[in-house]
Amino acid sequence: MNSINIALIGCGNVGLKLLELVHTKKALLLEQYHLQLNFVAVADSSGVAIDENGLDVIKVIETKKEAGTVASYPEKGYRNALIVDVLKNSNVQIVIEAGVTNIENGGTSLEHAFEAIQLEMHVVFLSKGPIVCGYQQLRDLALEKNVQLKYSGATAAALPTIDLALQSLAGTEIHSIEGLFNGTTNYILDRMTSHGVTYQEALLEAQEKGIAETDPTLDVDGWDTAAKTLILANAVMRTNFSMKDLEVKGITKITPGEIDKAKSQGKVIKLIGEVYFDQKEARTKVKVSPKLLSSEHPLSDVKDALKGVHFLTDTMGELTVIGGKSDPRAAAAAALKDVITIASTKYLM
Ligand SMILES: NC(=O)c1ccc[n+]([C@@H]2O[C@H](COP(=O)([O-])OP(=O)(O)OC[C@H]3O[C@@H](n4cnc5c(N)ncnc54)[C@H](OP(=O)(O)O)[C@@H]3O)[C@@H](O)[C@H]2O)c1
Repeated sequence: MNSINIALIGCGNVGLKLLELVHTKKALLLEQYHLQLNFVAVADSSGVAIDENGLDVIKVIETKKEAGTVASYPEKGYRNALIVDVLKNSNVQIVIEAGVTNIENGGTSLEHAFEAIQLEMHVVFLSKGPIVCGYQQLRDLALEKNVQLKYSGATAAALPTIDLALQSLAGTEIHSIEGLFNGTTNYILDRMTSHGVTYQEALLEAQEKGIAETDPTLDVDGWDTAAKTLILANAVMRTNFSMKDLEVKGITKITPGEIDKAKSQGKVIKLIGEVYFDQKEARTKVKVSPKLLSSEHPLSDVKDALKGVHFLTDTMGELTVIGGKSDPRAAAAAALKDVITIASTKYLM
């Protein structure tokens, strides 16, 4: 049996689901992967719960839900403790970064990631900020320290994108990636197309169903799609883009008239993040914008809040994957998959 010590940074929607998931899948993890996952530290913005022998996961969940912070964990909760200090004196092997996403400068999540890698810990990311803002530096340091970085949860989570590109398409030249990476925007555009409602009506519906957040700006203005597309470009196509290099246009200005016009041409409008080689400018570009897709396009029929990705390769042809849930539990499941992948490699320290 492989017993792995984990630090979870961030105990919000996804962090809590991850704790629940690992608890409910304890037997499966043991039987199928010979893995026992011990959460030895769990942090939120108020403090850290620590037990080098493994915290009682159910107690962590109850404490967070009842007291609002893991710092109230009985006897082993520390208010105002900083996770970076805790990591320095710990037996942690994998850090899961599920803090708030900051795509402007990476925020504290980026600091946490650097510290963890310095300490020769593997890192699993849910927050996009560190990979968007510091991918090259994190990767170089991880190579030097011989640790792995995994970020399925930051690249459309339940929809396989990064693993597919790096593993299943290894050895191919990927000519382009097109992605429908945001469930909220797809839901809104799909409702506008299928039910003839306005953007505002579709957004309200999405919010009522819990698909769109109260503040949907990052989704509807295209920045969430942009972050995921940028990560894929830099990690898969080995580019070195930052957010300021990207052309980003969201869906807020799309009118029922434009939707009708697309329909009359047998087309649909989808918000697409794409990485492609611009022949005129002879360079790889990243772009996020509403795009007219004909009915033959493999992503044209992606309905509801589903997501999809389409790769064009030199030797394996075209590949499309559609589906994957867009909720905190599915995001947590993507992080669990990354943990299993890391733990299954023989050089886990
Ligand atoms: N929600 C999804 O479906 C989904 C899907 C894919 C990826 N993600 C990404 O996953 C991450 C977590 O999402 P979420 O929905 O769980 O967000 P959330 O509910 O806002 O949780 C964020 C957590 O980070 C904690 N935190 C903030 N600053 C911290 C610090 N300095 N040190 C330690 N902890 C800190 C917060 O503490 P408090 O609890 O004290 O505020 C909170 O527990 C985000 O980066 C998000 O973009 C989310």
